[in-house]
Amino acid sequence: MSPPFDTFMRWPAEAIWEAVSPQMPGFSVEILPEIDSTNTELMRRARAGQTDAVLLVAESQSAGRGRLGRQWVSQRGDSLTFSLGLPIAPKDWSGLSLAVGLSLAESLHPQVSLKWPNDLWIEGHKLGGILIEAASTGSHSYVVIGVGLNIQPQAVEGLRTPPAALAPWLPGITAADALGRVAAPLVAAVQGFTLTGFAPLQARFHARDVLQGLVVTTSDGMQGRALGVDASGALQIETPSGVVSVHSSEVSVRPAAQQENT
Ligand code: BTN
Repeated sequence: MSPPFDTFMRWPAEAIWEAVSPQMPGFSVEILPEIDSTNTELMRRARAGQTDAVLLVAESQSAGRGRLGRQWVSQRGDSLTFSLGLPIAPKDWSGLSLAVGLSLAESLHPQVSLKWPNDLWIEGHKLGGILIEAASTGSHSYVVIGVGLNIQPQAVEGLRTPPAALAPWLPGITAADALGRVAAPLVAAVQGFTLTGFAPLQARFHARDVLQGLVVTTSDGMQGRALGVDASGALQIETPSGVVSVHSSEVSVRPAAQQENT
């Protein structure tokens, strides 16, 4: 479990492995000083037939990827970037990204909220994002759950307001501390999701839903008031022609009044 390369930080790899492996045989933890992208690496491995449960953490990514083909830029020490690869086969995948976000938020801080479908927010600013990719390996399915979390405040060019960071809310926290908080509960949450789906999490998601009651605009131009999510995790939008269910694969959503922040 100890890192084979020199890392910048001390990571709680062994503690995570000890907490997770009894429930997840074959689980391993890898910490790398640098890689192109932890998601890209686990997808490469899956295509090559390596589909064991693994937590891959990189202190720095040279080609971090965000949703919708965007870049995910982060600085060593200022952020936490990891991917969790799991051989799971839920009956229904809908709501997985919401279950992941909920687990992360609940492990981090009461003020962390969720912006459907994939973002962690704090006080109106983006704190982190989730990129979920599935590899079909023939006989079974493998999911790669990538997480990027801002730990230290940073200025980002091109955004009118900077993203949020965790350290102002949890003074002294490091990326390694944040990983120690979120990793084992996240594995347990995904295992729970494979058994029960999103429905039992709906009320807890609701409690952190930042879009609730706001007028939102979807990427395909629909506008309406967000009413929350249904038992499958689909966003419910009240429009002049009725309530519309929006599924994460179809659109992205941003509060109309805060488009420049996201
Ligand atoms: C988003 O909000 O667009 C999702 C960002 C996901 C970023 C993480 S960082 C670790 C993992 N590796 C990647 O290349 N992307 C995800």
